Amino acid sequence: MKKDLLVAGPMHGATLKVLDDTYTTHKLWLAPDRDAFLASLADRIDAVATSGRYGMDDATMAKLPKLKLIAHFGVGVDSIDVDAVKRRGIALTNTPDVLTDDVADIAMGLLLATVRKIAAGDRYVREGKWLKSGAMPLTDSIQGKTLGIVGLGRIGRAIAKRAEAFNLKIAYQGPRRKTDVPWPYFEDAVALARAADFLVAACPGGEETRGLVSRAVLEALGPEGVVVNISRGSVIDEPAMVDLLKSGKLGGAGLDVFDKEPAVPEELLAMDNVVLQPHVGSATHPTRRAMGQLVIDNLALYFAGKPLKTPY
Ligand code: 8YV
Repeated sequence: MKKDLLVAGPMHGATLKVLDDTYTTHKLWLAPDRDAFLASLADRIDAVATSGRYGMDDATMAKLPKLKLIAHFGVGVDSIDVDAVKRRGIALTNTPDVLTDDVADIAMGLLLATVRKIAAGDRYVREGKWLKSGAMPLTDSIQGKTLGIVGLGRIGRAIAKRAEAFNLKIAYQGPRRKTDVPWPYFEDAVALARAADFLVAACPGGEETRGLVSRAVLEALGPEGVVVNISRGSVIDEPAMVDLLKSGKLGGAGLDVFDKEPAVPEELLAMDNVVLQPHVGSATHPTRRAMGQLVIDNLALYFAGKPLKTPY
């Protein structure tokens, strides 16, 4: 007999197919009456698969009294009420490591694309401006500049590795100084921004880091400064960023994530010094497959009564 599994939202197609083949899946996002649907499953559901967009809140957990495992597709668990998970004694798994390199690649891509105006250059060629107006205006260079990394976790370190190969100097901010890296540490994000030419947000999302890249941080980065965000939109004070970009007090922004995504502040759409991506850091075939495999493996281990592969 197949075990029951609640799936909170649509996820990576091939992963969902394996889950459908392995379990009797119950698809929460398709239920016309969510509460009735959860009530009908309450005595059978001990495991849930979810993802960043759908998460898992305390109210939903309360409706599933037998819930023992949440298998999350994604490394960032900010859409899951982790305090409630702990309080209720539920195990939580996420998908670390497998996405680190792809996300770090997008961070470097956004930095280069913003500073060297690659997306703007693409528009310049397509719109016939090269033919009509000649060479595009010169840009800044990243060579020899300092990249400030907010959050030197797995992804922050992978960004630092790439940045060094691009002749950037590194400095970082985070809750703790790391003993195994040679780069200058700043406890305070404003101080980091003052010392840096460019800033990349690579810390976890959630309430603890909400607005960490504040107006003051962005002002300290300054009119030549560029901010890159591959973390969560919530980490940057988005209205302040838009203001400062508009008034020229911040040089540019390369953004993969937004506070209310998929909605993006209208004003950003018209700015040539901003490069926008639709949250694609981990969105490659191999990485999404590997993330899905972790979800599949963690569920299988849970149902076999074995230790989980990537507990959060
Ligand atoms: C995905 C992510 O967009 O892992 C994360 O935290 O932000 C991305 O990999 C998302 O989790 C997919 O649901």
